[in-house]
Amino acid sequence: MFRILSKVILSFSLIMLVVLGYPTIAQAQPAQLAKAVQEIENLDAMRSGLADYLEDAPEPPTAETMKQVCKPVGMKAMQLSKENGWQVKQIAKKYRNPAHQPDNLEASNALSTFEQAPELMGFWEKETLNDQAGTRYYRRINVEASCLACHGLKDNRPQFVKDNYPQDLAYNFQVGDLRGMYAVFIPDAVQQSVQAALDD
Ligand code: HEC
Repeated sequence: MFRILSKVILSFSLIMLVVLGYPTIAQAQPAQLAKAVQEIENLDAMRSGLADYLEDAPEPPTAETMKQVCKPVGMKAMQLSKENGWQVKQIAKKYRNPAHQPDNLEASNALSTFEQAPELMGFWEKETLNDQAGTRYYRRINVEASCLACHGLKDNRPQFVKDNYPQDLAYNFQVGDLRGMYAVFIPDAVQQSVQAALDD
């Protein structure tokens, strides 16, 4: 219950910040940023829900149901990227899928910032990514008890993880650890074209 409440408060306060605070960024992209914040809350809730379901399921998980926790999160991230013209990623220092390693200095710094400030849930900054100017929103991902079935002790990882991720680093986590973060890059050009369409 506390977790749900804190998420609601988080989304609300982030949206209020976008609307009321940070005037420079708010001018640049209030609607897109607020939308990104909301979509990431939904995405994170989806993973927690899938992991909880697996933990509580009456049937022991099969190889197939085990794959249905974090893989769908990656697929949904791709879908959000496509639909919105954003780049939505998960990034971690201790990654399982090598596609999720930090992709620039700012991302590495953002992970360090989250490590040093356990209460910080999210922030955004102006960045240039692949020669495009825009805003990148970062949102922390914490380890919950239900994650440990696959991100706990190295030897306890499910067989499909041992088989499919030979470079896996995403184990030996404990509840409350920083698992990684979501990163949403919103190019300025996307915001402008959305605004232009609305003004038409
Ligand atoms: C049933 C096994 C399983 C459970 C439970 C699970 N994960 Fe994962 N996790 C995986 C697999 C497999 C991947 C790699 C997916 C891919 O190839 O994109 C992964 C990847 C991730 C990633 C992307 C970064 C990376 O290391 O590649 C994050 C973040 C993550 N998991 C967080 C969590 C959190 C938080 C929980 C609990 C709420 C959780 N996981 C529960 C299996 C699991």
